[in-house]
Amino acid sequence: MTGSSTAVAHSNIALIKYWGKVDSRLAIPATSSVSLTLDAYRTETTVEWGAEQDSVVLDGAVLSGVPADRVSRFLDLVRDLAGRSDHATVVSRNTVPTAAGLASSASGFAALAAAATSAAGLTLAPRDLSILARKGSGSASRSVFGGLAVWYAGTDDLSSYAEPLVDPGLDLAMVVAVVNAGTKEISSRDAMRLTAETSPYYDAWVSASRSDFSSMLDAIGAGDFTRVGELAESNAMRMHASMLGSTPPVTYWEPDSVRCLRLVRELRSAGAECYATMDAGPNVKILCRRPDLATIRTAVEELGVAGVTTALPGPGVRIDRATA
Ligand code: ADP
Ligand code: DP6
Ligand code: CO
Repeated sequence: MTGSSTAVAHSNIALIKYWGKVDSRLAIPATSSVSLTLDAYRTETTVEWGAEQDSVVLDGAVLSGVPADRVSRFLDLVRDLAGRSDHATVVSRNTVPTAAGLASSASGFAALAAAATSAAGLTLAPRDLSILARKGSGSASRSVFGGLAVWYAGTDDLSSYAEPLVDPGLDLAMVVAVVNAGTKEISSRDAMRLTAETSPYYDAWVSASRSDFSSMLDAIGAGDFTRVGELAESNAMRMHASMLGSTPPVTYWEPDSVRCLRLVRELRSAGAECYATMDAGPNVKILCRRPDLATIRTAVEELGVAGVTTALPGPGVRIDRATA
């Protein structure tokens, strides 16, 4: 059987971050996280089985080295699940900039998990798809679901999965200030390992983030936008503080990142309530409510960064086409 399937998944931005693993092989994180899947950035991936060797083409270029190996090791997991030994031809397109801190690994591995299993004739329950996607990239466990998602850290393979969170009408939106869409110097994977191994602030990050996580679930449950935003902003700053303590330091910020953080403070005091979060890259994501989207977008445009994207909550992963 040489089935082919195409899947589409959207990237997600964490409001409570995942930064550090307790088990690298299984991708069990040190802490639980919460995210918002975005409609603006996506990956579309087609997988066809029946090849002699695995191959991956991303945005028209053949992958080699670490990115290609990462896909092949992931396909090994699908081969195990499906009990097959053939290889796959993978063709993928990202509308999300790749490796820029805009979560291409999240949409990338969620789409790959869905396409590769579907093409192999497997039908996974959403939780099992989340568990599989996690082993490609931790953040991909959350992109299986649309809107707000929670990834429970768990303690082993089957207890570490994401699921959707009910949004009690928070009306969330995001303005992404693209400071630099280029490739980061150190991958999220390597940077979080370095932080865990060398930063004296890592243990403090883990305990603070555990407490932020339970506060965030309460704030979302209460529909309290102010609290959600405050927690998201401070959790992101705490994550970056832990990175700065690494040897060598992990510094993703650029001058325009700081200008954006200041703008967010100014907008807030001027009455457009918004909060900043940052990931493993210099770009600043501004969490707001939908009615404030246009005002905040214009303010970021006037600041003059490389680009501005607006986003609303996006959908979970879906299969677009499948042929037997
Ligand atoms: P990001 O902030 O974009 O998630 P990461 O460092 O976490 O950055 O991951 C980037 C890596 O994810 C890429 O170098 C590549 O290995 C992988 N990746 C991104 N998009 C895809 C895709 N569509 N298919 C397969 N792998 C992908
Ligand atoms: C800062 O999921 O990209 O975006 O599991 O090693 O692939 P791997 O890392 P990845 O890390 C994401 C880190 C983050 C925070 C988050 O998305 O929770
Ligand atoms: Co990533």
